[in-house]
Amino acid sequence: MSSNLTWHQTTIKKEDYRKKNAHSSGVIWLTGLSGSGKSTIANIVNQKLYEKSLQSYVLDGDNVRHGLNNDLGFNDSDRQENIRRVGEVAKLFADSGTIVLASFISPFQSDRDQIRQSLDEGEFIEVFVSCPLGECEDRDPKGIYKKVRNGVIPSFTGIDSPYEEPSNSEIVVYTNQESEEESADRIIQLLKDKRWI
Ligand code: PPS
Repeated sequence: MSSNLTWHQTTIKKEDYRKKNAHSSGVIWLTGLSGSGKSTIANIVNQKLYEKSLQSYVLDGDNVRHGLNNDLGFNDSDRQENIRRVGEVAKLFADSGTIVLASFISPFQSDRDQIRQSLDEGEFIEVFVSCPLGECEDRDPKGIYKKVRNGVIPSFTGIDSPYEEPSNSEIVVYTNQESEEESADRIIQLLKDKRWI
């Protein structure tokens, strides 16, 4: 990083946006295997917040990789850079008073922890979207596991690329045991318990 940079303070701060929105802001980070239900749950939570006139936004792995991160692949260092960039974007959204729903496989504990540490205390909620690999593969909503088994996609998470299960999540949702609606409701309840909303 250049040393010839100066951080500009803006007059309107995070607390001002939060006051205007009448709710807190931060990052809800959904991590889990492909097909575990991350995007679906993030979308339902976002819808429920929208219906309550709260300021929220979804950042989703597939979508972000279409634009901002379309130069990145799926080797370990590209995944790490993917999560680093998204963490920075999520932090900016949180600074603007937005409740961010970030839905990324984010397979490495250290990358997730780095985002937690970059935010102020209590601004990061990690949601482990737990689902056994076999169930994700049976669902195969995008037909991607089939391609993996046919040898078309290398370095696939859970198959021949690692997934480090979170050890310090604020909440675990078990999508093979509860409906997506139930998982979303539990996340909303957590936001209430933590006085985000
Ligand atoms: S990561 O690991 O956090 O950087 O991945 P992410 O940005 O969330 O992107 C995951 C989606 O990309 C598709 N895809 C792959 N996933 C895992 N491994 C490999 N090799 C791969 N290639 C493509 C896949 O559809 C993921 O979408 P989800 O929604 O998780 O199923």
